[in-house]
Amino acid sequence: MQTKIWRMPAHKPDEELLEEAASFLKKGELVAFPTETVYGLGGNALDSSASRKIYEAKGRPSDNPLIVHISDINQIDELVRSIPPVAIKLMEKFWPGPITFVLPKSDKIPAVITGGLDTVAIRMPAHKIALKLIEIAGLPIAAPSANISGRPSPTTAQHVIDDLGGKIAGIIDGGKAGVGVESTVLDLTTPVPTILRPGGVTLEDLQKEIGEVHIDKGLIDANHVPRSPGMKYTHYSPKADVIIVKGSLTEMAEKILTITGEELGQGKKVGLMVSQELYELLKTDLPGSVLVEILGKKNNLAQVTSNLFMELRALDKEKVDVIYVENFPETYIGAALMNRLYKAAGGKTI
Ligand code: TXA
Ligand code: MG
Repeated sequence: MQTKIWRMPAHKPDEELLEEAASFLKKGELVAFPTETVYGLGGNALDSSASRKIYEAKGRPSDNPLIVHISDINQIDELVRSIPPVAIKLMEKFWPGPITFVLPKSDKIPAVITGGLDTVAIRMPAHKIALKLIEIAGLPIAAPSANISGRPSPTTAQHVIDDLGGKIAGIIDGGKAGVGVESTVLDLTTPVPTILRPGGVTLEDLQKEIGEVHIDKGLIDANHVPRSPGMKYTHYSPKADVIIVKGSLTEMAEKILTITGEELGQGKKVGLMVSQELYELLKTDLPGSVLVEILGKKNNLAQVTSNLFMELRALDKEKVDVIYVENFPETYIGAALMNRLYKAAGGKTI
């Protein structure tokens, strides 16, 4: 299939082009679009055959439910059975924005979307193009990240073309997605709201707003199965082995210099993803053949997070055998950053 590309600036949606993109959605076709987190692969959430196309294009396991995206708070009534007061408070505070709420689903939502669950995940994205597209389509839009299942989520239209070009009707290119990791998934069907996936809205943000917030045990303890089906799969993985390097800046630098020396000696192609600060410590002694991607300043975790998937994909394109990544603090957005890194690394650390 020929994939159409529509280009427009993130802050200035082109309504004429979006009309055309929306017409594909209304026909049950798939259109990828930018959001403030990552690019999404959109399809009509009320049409089960559109959802089946999403699973097929991504190669996604059918028990991993999709997030339904809306552009207007009034759309939610037909999608859920009930809305607890805490949900209203959080929607007022954080929507549009990088947080998804899990609520009891209504009968209007096809079972394919929720992987058979009795709940549905809903989000109102804070991206002008996404909001305008959903508004023009006049439909709730199911949209997982627009990557092949298991690969790092796409933060540019080119990433989507690399994974899904030729398989979907169109892609809206609105430049680089800002947050760089997916939305927070918060379950509001539990007595205490529970984070199922850390993301753009942080634990600290939520605690400030509503006090007690739980974190799904499956995210922190390997003996528990995560309640968000998507979190149990290997994920965000480039083809190379990813290994997280722990310790102080000097300890990390020493470990990296030793290990890259050994790996290069074995004929391996080595990639590195580090902060500016760690790079400064390494640069005089690091062998020239090591491919280095600088994620950003250590004290700017938002910048580091925003570059993570892009740099994983960049090193993949260079066909490195192994990628060593600096360890970052797990507070604020760092919780989402390290969650994705641990998954990309399959838990491997040195
Ligand atoms: O930022 C985002 O959320 C992006 C953009 C495109 O909006 N979307 C995204 O979708 O990350 P996806 O499909 O890649 O991830 C959805 C996550 C999965 O981990 C899935 O298991 C979980 O949300 N999820 C969806 N519905 C759920 C439900 N009813 N209960 C628990 N987890 C659910
Ligand atoms: Mg995804």
